[in-house]
Amino acid sequence: MSGRSADAAALLAYYREIGVDEAVADRPGSWADHVPPAPAGRVASPARPAAPARPGPPVEPAPLPADRPPAPSTATPAAPAASLGGEAAVADARRIAAAAATLADLEAAIRAFDGCPLKLTATTTVFADGHPDAPVMVIGEAPGGEEDRQGKPFVGPAGQLLDRMLAAIGLDRAHSAYITNILNWRPPGNRQPNAGEIATCLPFIERHIALKRPAVVILAGGTSAKALLNTSDGIMRLRGRWRELDVLGLAEPVPAMALFHPAYLLRQPAAKHEAWRDLLAVHKRLSQLDLVPDRHRPELPRNADA
Ligand code: URA
Repeated sequence: MSGRSADAAALLAYYREIGVDEAVADRPGSWADHVPPAPAGRVASPARPAAPARPGPPVEPAPLPADRPPAPSTATPAAPAASLGGEAAVADARRIAAAAATLADLEAAIRAFDGCPLKLTATTTVFADGHPDAPVMVIGEAPGGEEDRQGKPFVGPAGQLLDRMLAAIGLDRAHSAYITNILNWRPPGNRQPNAGEIATCLPFIERHIALKRPAVVILAGGTSAKALLNTSDGIMRLRGRWRELDVLGLAEPVPAMALFHPAYLLRQPAAKHEAWRDLLAVHKRLSQLDLVPDRHRPELPRNADA
């Protein structure tokens, strides 16, 4: 490799390391300067007051290596629509989610939804994986790089650990587990989703739970637990105790157990001890509900405190 190529490769490796892994546009620019007129019939509806135009997400355009010529002046960053993010997008999401009568409707509606800024940088919309009639619904945070490539939730290293955790209590995607995220699009560089992105996607995951009707929900990680339990408590306080999820459209609250996120467990294997206790509590609840298939019933210690 020539010196210049090695420098460029090192620069790209550095960007990747700090999370800048999406080339959104050829040159850096202010998103606030590129808010186009609303598409006909969208925001201009007199039925809904127009929300104040909001700048787009804090995406990190990848700067050019020094030896690349500047982009032609016509290169305009992909610009957000006027109702991208913000209250108008949340209202759109609520209305669209409420209109979905089946999981297939909801999936189609989410795929067609352009109100979440993360869709601009994601490769694909990640809806769900697993058995739609499974008793257990696992809800994580957001797709990562591998999920974004494959279009399925939890298929990277954290997903492989999640599969092993579920298998330890007799659950799998083919029969007994259904897996999704609170966000359907990958945040660039796997950064934490911000409050606006979560608020925009929340109506979809709530409708998803209502249509899926799980017996038990596992909230994988603090972001999902906080968003769905509507609390600012962290995962250290939330995990390990049964909570009730009140979901619009469901007559009864759904029992929910928050667990450490598998990605956290990969970094902090010592915390697997607590995660195992929480999984045993889920297993115990499923056993009480007679929802653990015999052929999947593993040998478990008897002292699973729920
Ligand atoms: N982390 C998540 O929260 N969800 C995924 O789908 C992958 C990683």
